[in-house]
Amino acid sequence: MNSRRALAVLLIGAGACAVALRGPAAAEPGNPEAGRAVFAGKQCVRCHLPRSERGPGPALEDIRRPQGEMELAGRLWNHLPAMFASVTGKGAEWPEIGVAEMGDLMAYLRADVRRDAEPDLAKGRMTLLRKGCLKCHSLRREGGPVKPDLAERRSDYASAAAWAATMWAHTPRMAAMASRQGVPYPRFAGDEMANLVGLLRSTARENP
Ligand code: HEC
Ligand code: HEC
Repeated sequence: MNSRRALAVLLIGAGACAVALRGPAAAEPGNPEAGRAVFAGKQCVRCHLPRSERGPGPALEDIRRPQGEMELAGRLWNHLPAMFASVTGKGAEWPEIGVAEMGDLMAYLRADVRRDAEPDLAKGRMTLLRKGCLKCHSLRREGGPVKPDLAERRSDYASAAAWAATMWAHTPRMAAMASRQGVPYPRFAGDEMANLVGLLRSTARENP
């Protein structure tokens, strides 16, 4: 094999590896137009208005911008305390967002899986510890008592939309428990969510 071909094979191999670690890109790419309707239907429009109109939350232009899908999943996780107080304070229901709706919403907010970094598993392990997940959950039976054990195989580790939909449903209950236990509510930035889910995915894959 000449060296150029060897390089090409190596690069293709590395690309395939990155795809495997990032997991299958959402089986069906999200539809941005459908996502616009989700954004309106789930009341996001109440707080996120165009910059010229000044809403209670960050301007639409600031949250709708090129970003990674896992990066956005982390932003939605961070978002909970701000929205929770306002929703529950007014006796409104926490909106449910299904996986397909989440995929569309992510497409509307211009998230693209190719913008997520390849997961760094060592950093993912640090993130898991630093964010306090193991104060409540276990990983391979080490950690707290709350189900699930995070090394279980889960279909929602497969795509950012599935993960964000699960976390969207999970965060209110988690935040309630965290405030009862005095555990600070963790926030995610940059590649932290991509690294964390990369680690969970790879641990679950090794789990028999
Ligand atoms: C009750 C008002 C309110 C509603 C409704 C609301 N948001 Fe927000 N949102 C906020 C506020 C306030 C912040 C900034 C606070 C923060 O980041 O903790 C924010 C921040 C965000 C961020 C950026 C977070 C970050 O860490 O950069 C995103 C993305 C976002 N919202 C998306 C949404 C989506 C999607 C919906 C609808 C499902 C929604 N928001 C509904 C008030 C709201
Ligand atoms: C303060 C306690 C607490 C912390 C900290 C916590 N969780 Fe949870 N988690 C819960 C509770 C309670 C449930 C069960 C209720 C539910 O399903 O939302 C749960 C459920 C889950 C589920 C299953 C959700 C489902 O619908 O099947 C996953 C996955 C999960 N947590 C991941 C995490 C990750 C990752 C972290 C750290 C970034 C974390 N949790 C931090 C309390 C916590």
